Amino acid sequence: MQGTSKNDLIIRIGGEGGEGVISVGDFITQACAHAGLNVYTFKTFPAEIKGGYAMYQVRTSTEQLYNQGDTFDVLCAFNGDAYHNNRDFLKPGTAIVYDSPGDFTPDIPEGVHAYPIPMTETAKDMRNPRAKNMVAMGALSVLFNIPVESLRKVLTAKFSRKGEEVVKGNLEALERGRELAAALKKTDPWTIGAPKSAQDVIVMSGNNAIGLGALIAGLDFFSAYPITPATEVAIYVAKHLPKRGGTLIQAEDEIASISQVVGASYAGKKAMTSTSGPGLALMSEMLGMAFMAELPIVVVDVQRGGPSTGLPTKHEQSDLFLAIHGGHGDAGRIVLSVENVQDCIDLTVVAFNLAEKYQCPVILLSDGSLAFSTQNVPYPDPGSYKLVERERWNGEGEYQRYLLTKSGISPMTDPGTIGGAHIATGLEHNEDGLPSYTSVNHEAMQDKRFRKLKNVVNDIAPVEVDAAQGVGTADLGLIAWGSTIGVVREALQHLRAEGYKVSGFYPKLLNPLPVQQFEDFGATCKRLLLPEVNFQGQLAHFVRAETSLRPESYTICGGMPFTPEMIVKKVKEILA
Ligand code: COA
Repeated sequence: MQGTSKNDLIIRIGGEGGEGVISVGDFITQACAHAGLNVYTFKTFPAEIKGGYAMYQVRTSTEQLYNQGDTFDVLCAFNGDAYHNNRDFLKPGTAIVYDSPGDFTPDIPEGVHAYPIPMTETAKDMRNPRAKNMVAMGALSVLFNIPVESLRKVLTAKFSRKGEEVVKGNLEALERGRELAAALKKTDPWTIGAPKSAQDVIVMSGNNAIGLGALIAGLDFFSAYPITPATEVAIYVAKHLPKRGGTLIQAEDEIASISQVVGASYAGKKAMTSTSGPGLALMSEMLGMAFMAELPIVVVDVQRGGPSTGLPTKHEQSDLFLAIHGGHGDAGRIVLSVENVQDCIDLTVVAFNLAEKYQCPVILLSDGSLAFSTQNVPYPDPGSYKLVERERWNGEGEYQRYLLTKSGISPMTDPGTIGGAHIATGLEHNEDGLPSYTSVNHEAMQDKRFRKLKNVVNDIAPVEVDAAQGVGTADLGLIAWGSTIGVVREALQHLRAEGYKVSGFYPKLLNPLPVQQFEDFGATCKRLLLPEVNFQGQLAHFVRAETSLRPESYTICGGMPFTPEMIVKKVKEILA
């Protein structure tokens, strides 16, 4: 189900970590996006800084893209590992551009278009072995019509910090690669789609988009401890927040970072941290504290393969149990999950708004696939986002921080507000904020804290239902969350084109679960399927627990996302 026309081309670049695979993928992505094409990328690499198999997949199309696609139309193999890892996907009609002579001799299957390029040898001859990847990129640009002027520009921009010599050497290697490819006879039909007029687009990764969303939301304070695959969020914020007068701290660990965020929130600031599963586990005590003290904080969790250190650079959607219930006692929180780069901007703003309004922690779940996926999105207009500020005390009467109100929300004060002094601790407290352990008080306060969360569903867009036009009852309804949604969207298109009656349901608010919307969707489907990238079927578990629905689980946990083809195959099996 990979690109089936010139308008939908998937190029996969594979090689050894350290050979510059990721740079080539990034450059091609930028060049295609600047040419007005839609892009959706996926990259995966080992946990080591050097060595192991690194892969970057660029999908580019004139049509909207929802995922990285299945395998590839074009494979660019820098080494034997890249060839062997992808050998089974070299189907008739696909093309391979490979290093020759190199450390492998490919056995080219019949019908596959082969383009040997002396990548290593040329770079060595140019006394610039590092530039092997640029020789390959030059060849790709000629063979598949990738705008070379854009490539030159992004190359120059990226390498200029390494010095003029590096830029010059790489530009020369690019040209040499172009000459080598121009001397070959092109036999395949692949080329990127016809560029559109330049658009007002921004091309960014999921991690960067979360950083941008936080800035739009009015982030004042950020503290984090670096952890793959979340570090890029911190790097983005570090670049931009101080310029806007905000504060950023790289803390000594995750416990310190969330503690600082809780403190900043108490001080009246919009505060956020970002981490991955192991870090979120360490933060569970302070998440409970923020719920108890009713302090608005945003915690971004970019999920990776677990348990424990697990698969640090790989994709998984396996922190849902932890996000919803991680912690001791009855500690509530709001949990949102993002589908794509656009969501990473928009839902980060929503996360801040919900945290401020409901004075509680909001966990925003992203994942390893989306963290590094680069996509084009319209240039955001910060002014178009509605921002919510916490309700502050109006100064009238005697201030009670934890006043029992109908909605459960009580006005806050910033430190220094005359008459508004109060303490916020992890101890149970009365309306004045003073320790109180009576059973009547604890029950009233727990009820207040959870009462707030009942209204969250009304503050977020209704769950999107992707129902085929004219279909009354679907034979199968698919429920998806996170970046799996984009895969399901495309799978449904293919299935409907073949006459299948299938619908999709894409919740972004996962706690509190929008139960009624689940029930309504379930009522329109004969059966339900819930694909997710974890072993235990975590969302399916919550859906079974909280609704009357009984979705079948379809789980994988190999460190890679689903592909549309996998979903299509599964649906056909179920409906056979
Ligand atoms: N000339 C000069 N420099 C070049 C170059 C060229 N032709 N091609 C690439 N480079 C540079 C890149 O700019 C980059 O340097 P930078 O880090 O200073 O920006 C470096 O070489 C690596 O190239 P890149 O294309 O970014 O990556 P790669 O495909 O070689 O793969 C990684 C290397 C990304 C796999 C590896 O460095 C990495 O980060 N691994 C993951 C580590 C991790 O997160 N572990 C988890 C710990 S829990």
